Amino acid sequence: YKEEIAATQQNGAAALETFRIRFLGTKGIVKTLFAEMKNVPAEEKKAFGAILNEFKQFAEDKYEQWKAGLESTEVESGTAFDYTLPGDPAPMGSRHPISLVKNDIIAIFRRLGFSVAEGPEIEDDFHNFTALNLPEHHPARDMQDTFYLHQNPDWLLRTHTSNVQVREMEKGKLPIRVICPGRVYRNETISARAHCFFHQVEGLYIDEHVSFADLKQTLYFFVQELFGNNIRIRFRPSYFPFTEPSAEMDISCLLCHGKGCNVCKHTGWVEILGCGMVHPQVLENCGIDSNKYTGFAFGMGIERIAMLKYQINDLRLFSENDIRFLQQFTGSF
Ligand code: PHE
Repeated sequence: YKEEIAATQQNGAAALETFRIRFLGTKGIVKTLFAEMKNVPAEEKKAFGAILNEFKQFAEDKYEQWKAGLESTEVESGTAFDYTLPGDPAPMGSRHPISLVKNDIIAIFRRLGFSVAEGPEIEDDFHNFTALNLPEHHPARDMQDTFYLHQNPDWLLRTHTSNVQVREMEKGKLPIRVICPGRVYRNETISARAHCFFHQVEGLYIDEHVSFADLKQTLYFFVQELFGNNIRIRFRPSYFPFTEPSAEMDISCLLCHGKGCNVCKHTGWVEILGCGMVHPQVLENCGIDSNKYTGFAFGMGIERIAMLKYQINDLRLFSENDIRFLQQFTGSF
């Protein structure tokens, strides 16, 4: 075998591998010879072992020397792997526009001292409706087409993140200054303007002496930070069971600046949120003394704001995961 090894022509990687398998492989000659050890008489074992070890070393030396030679010729001929080449680029994801706008909104309210609170998307009737002055059979429940859970009609997919506000009030730690971002669900036909799920940021501020003036100024500051100082706002009276008085807030149209366009339907105004003073009964439902405390609440849809900000005209784009849509937000944080 030593002669055979010595005479082996060192040509090519395939021949090297054949050599390795024949001599050094798990079923190779070296292993087979070592297995013979058990048949060697005891007094000869030592000498036999020494010869085998020497042979094994011989075969391994040949292999290493061959391999080293092969590698250096590959480097010289340029067929070896070139470690100085730049790597393959790893594809980078991008932040979803809903997350971008959500983070913008959170950052603005954080600067006003609001903290972020989150809560369950599967909610019980009390936290989504009853505590908010929407008892069973209340007609205003129809405003929010609800998905009920089949197994237990007391459970539902939350229709707004007001459920988190209820949970914050129940904790009983006052004053409260929170915003509640999250996904909400409504049984609506999917179209360019509506979807069966979307995202909201709602806010709640409760303390002594909180007034509607605080509400207005907070929201005015917010839209100026988000859209720029030239934005104008107006409040229209509205109705929500959980606030009194209630209002809807419009901003001046970002696209036509009052000249008239499709986004504002030629009114110059775009509605962006609902708001109002927390109804005293809601405070009481959540264990807060309504003689001592007052508060305001507001709620907005993130999709709506993202559509205005990025001039997106179809709400479905947000949930289709079309890479061509998402890639347009690469590099934004
Ligand atoms: N919860 C309301 C909605 O989902 C929004 C809102 C929140 C209105 C707080 C007023 C006060 O439509």
